[in-house]
Order: sequence, then C-alpha cells, then structure tokens
Amino acid sequence: EMSPQERAFQERIDRGEKIEPKDWMPDGYRKTLIRQIGQHAHSEIVGQLPEGNWITRAPTLERKAILLAKVQDEAGHGLYLYCAAETLGVSRDELTMALLEGRMKYSSIFNYPTLTWADMGAVGWLVDGAAIMNQVPLQRTSYGPYARAMVRICKEESFHQRQGFDIMMKMAKGTEAQRKMAQNALDRFWFPALMMFGPSDKDSVHSAQSMAWRIKMNTNDELRQKFVDQTMPQIDYLGLTCPDPDIAWNADKGGYDFSEPDWSEFFDVLRGNGPCNADRMQARRKAWEDGAWVRDGLMAHAAKKSAQMAA
Ligand code: ACO
Repeated sequence: EMSPQERAFQERIDRGEKIEPKDWMPDGYRKTLIRQIGQHAHSEIVGQLPEGNWITRAPTLERKAILLAKVQDEAGHGLYLYCAAETLGVSRDELTMALLEGRMKYSSIFNYPTLTWADMGAVGWLVDGAAIMNQVPLQRTSYGPYARAMVRICKEESFHQRQGFDIMMKMAKGTEAQRKMAQNALDRFWFPALMMFGPSDKDSVHSAQSMAWRIKMNTNDELRQKFVDQTMPQIDYLGLTCPDPDIAWNADKGGYDFSEPDWSEFFDVLRGNGPCNADRMQARRKAWEDGAWVRDGLMAHAAKKSAQMAA
C-alpha cells in the first residue's frame, strides 16, 4: 500500500506536475528513471557506431558533412542524457561501468550491421523515425530534466529522420542497382526497427508502473502501431515493398495489421547474441581504455590545483 508520502507524490504526477531533482521521490521511481535514461544515453553513444562506420565512405562531400553532423548530434544526446541521469544521483562513470560490465542495456537496433550506403538512408528514416515516435511523447514525461532534454533531442532527431528519408529517395529513384540496395536495406531494417519499441505489451514488465509514474507515456504496442501507420505510406511513396507479406490496411481499426517481429531473435539480441553485440562492446571498451590518460591527466591537474589553493 502507498504511504502518505507516496500518495502525495502520485497526486503530483496525476496533476501533470514536473518532478525536479531535489524533490522527494520513491526509490522505484528513481531507479526506473536511472535505468531508462541510462539505457537511452548508452543507445545514443553506441548508436554512433553503425553510422560512424560510413563517414569515411560517404558518396559526396555534402553527404559526408550531413552524416558527420548527425553522428556528432548523437554524441551530444548521449551527454545530455548522462547529465539528466546524474541529477538522480548516479555518476557518468558508474553508468559507463554498468554498460561495459553488461549490467545495463542499450537499444537492440544497434547490434545490426550497416552493410551499404543505403543503410544510412534506412537507419535515418526507420531507426531515427522509430526513436522520435517514442521520444516526442517523452517531452511530456514527469521528470523535468528528462522532459527538457527530449525537447532539443527531438528537434535534432527530426533532422536525422529527414536526411535518412532523403537518402532513401535518391536511392529508390536512382538506378536499378541503387533501387535494389534501398529495398535490401528496408528488408533488413524493418523488423529490427519494430523491435526498438520493446516487447509486446503482455511481455513488457515495466510498462504499467512506468505509465502510472508518467515515465512512459504510451505502451510499446501503441507506439509500434503508430510507427507502422506512419511508415507504410512512405514505403509506397518510395515505390518500395514492405518485407512483411501480411501487412494490410484494416479499415475498421483505421490502421495496418502487421506481423510481429521474431521475438526470440529480439531476446537473443538482448542476451548479447546479435550480429554485432561483441563488436559494439569491444569498441566502447577500447574508447574507455584509450581515454584513460585524458581522465588521469585531468584528475592529476585538478589535484594539483586544489593543493595549490590549499597552500
Ligand atoms: N533494446 C534493448 N532492450 C530493450 C528494448 C530494446 N529495443 N526494448 C525493451 N528492452 C528491455 C527493457 O530495457 C527491459 O529490460 P531491463 O528490465 O533489463 O531494463 C525489458 O526489455 C522489458 O521491456 P519493457 O518492460 O517494455 O521496458 P521499458 O518499459 O523500459 O520499455 C523502452 C522499453 C520503450 C525502450 C523504454 O525504455 C523507453 O522508452 N526508453 C527511452 C527511449 C530509448 O531508450 N530509446 C533508444 C532508442 S535509440 C535512440 O534513441 C538513439
């Protein structure tokens, strides 16, 4: 049963008030936010890798400049989100160690490889498209620092989504070889993009409590449905084919019926067995180890300065 303090907290949430870092909050609320914001931050950081893979191979200077800017934005998003998590009393180093030791997750999507230039289109269009679908409602989430971080992040994500769709348009309306690359990228990213929203509602362990706390604004299946409904007309516009043979407009519900992703594949990726999990973690470990001298140098400098101040 709720204590009077918990009840008063829930009433603040129900009134739509923002919770700020120094306010009282239940331990579970704090823990859930650290988990979700931390995973979100890790996703932004790990999410630089599949696209970083193509910066040196972008087909034109303009495409390279756009991709470079986008990947740098992802780094910025990761940093805002680590800062938002720090307001809950967990340090960035602790979060990083939890990622590197496999105690925290990052989005399943980033364990899939980016094989061709068309994948840069598919990632921007579908992956960032799915990310925005989830993040726009999070601008209204109950925790102030998280909600405010989402405002800026969503603006930048919209640009990412548009640049991805622009690549897809060029490819889909290009030569036959380019059109095939675009179709192949869609074929490979469709179901992994649907998995980004998380397991189906019946298997989503956190949804009920997170929605009561307004940490989450929608269920996983609600957002997945919205994403499919938004994306199908775009597939048609591109003249491409959805890889789900059973997708069909359902006039009664005013949305598409579609096949569920292969959930055994999803849970297998979460357990570390996706095509790129080992590579991604190795890249993050290497970045952490290669950066040790910078952190050590800064700490030594800070220690020297504070010794001088004390003297
Ligand atoms: N990839 C990896 N893990 C996932 C994914 C996914 N796509 N979806 C769900 N999970 C995990 C959950 O973290 C949870 O595991 P945990 O208890 O060990 O943390 C488990 O699967 C069960 O899922 P849910 O109970 O549905 O989890 P939750 O309520 O956290 O919902 C969701 C998942 C929708 C991803 C939520 O955490 C969220 O909205 N996060 C913020 C947005 C975000 O992280 N976006 C990253 C996308 S990519 C990008 O923005 C660059």
